Amino acid sequence: MGNASSKQRQPRSRPGVVPTVIVPTTTPKRFYGHGIPGVDVSKLSGKLIVLEGADGSGRSTQISRLVTWLEGRGHATVQVGLKRSTLVSEELAKAQQGNVLSRTTFSLFYATDFADQLENVIIPALKAGFMVLADRYIYTLMVRDLVRGLDEEWVRNLYSIALVPDAVFYLQVSPEELIQRTFAKSLALDYWESGMDLGLSQDMFDSFVKYQKRVIEQFQRLQSIYGFTIVDGNRPIEVVNRELRRQIDLVLAGKSAMD
Ligand SMILES: Nc1ncnc2c1ncn2[C@@H]1O[C@H](COP(=O)(O)OP(=O)(O)OP(=O)(O)O)[C@@H](O)[C@H]1O
Ligand SMILES: [Mg+2]
Repeated sequence: MGNASSKQRQPRSRPGVVPTVIVPTTTPKRFYGHGIPGVDVSKLSGKLIVLEGADGSGRSTQISRLVTWLEGRGHATVQVGLKRSTLVSEELAKAQQGNVLSRTTFSLFYATDFADQLENVIIPALKAGFMVLADRYIYTLMVRDLVRGLDEEWVRNLYSIALVPDAVFYLQVSPEELIQRTFAKSLALDYWESGMDLGLSQDMFDSFVKYQKRVIEQFQRLQSIYGFTIVDGNRPIEVVNRELRRQIDLVLAGKSAMD
């Protein structure tokens, strides 16, 4: 958690070419709801960029390229993601293995992990002017809760603690392509990402496809509420990255994709 890198790293320069560093334009930030008390959002000069998408949709691949690109242009970056809080990540992993918690308790466990990172990493980094790259955010957590039948109002209220990001990109990849990629990478499907706890099918492949279809449906519904950008992640890595860089350039210029 918190792979901070310093601003000392300068953009690579070619002889005779003066590298341009775009100073991010500060835009007003806000929480979705009650937020975290005592935070002056007008002091948050960094940018919060979120990448959402299923397992294998290419989030890590894209984030690592974006970090190189941003740092090459003189921006300090910090990375956050689910289950990375020092407070509860170990216990959360244990609880997942044991499959012993109720759906509500499980949801609150994830919310705690998120709140800890928001308060102790995301907000301080934004205050210091960092570009914060989040590998998943509250939307994945909400979608997982919603496909498991938790009350929508309760879930939305829970995550009203969150800061509205400057941009959210949802990498949409077909379930069939996700299976190909996941297998090429690890030769196994994940129990939770296949929705095996829901009893949709005893066959893990079948369950994975059914579960991911429900997840995509919920993401599309949340998209109409939260207005994030859907990016076609079935395309080659470089094509997807070019589109993300183009959109992030707009964010740096002060245009929030989340307005
Ligand atoms: N656009 C793409 N086209 C083809 N393969 C890709 C693409 N993007 C990523 N991959 C490959 O798919 C696999 C999964 O990518 P990656 O690890 O970036 O996904 P992820 O969303 O971070 O997954 P996880 O949820 O497991 O962390 C990797 O082997 C990666 O090289
Ligand atoms: Mg990853």
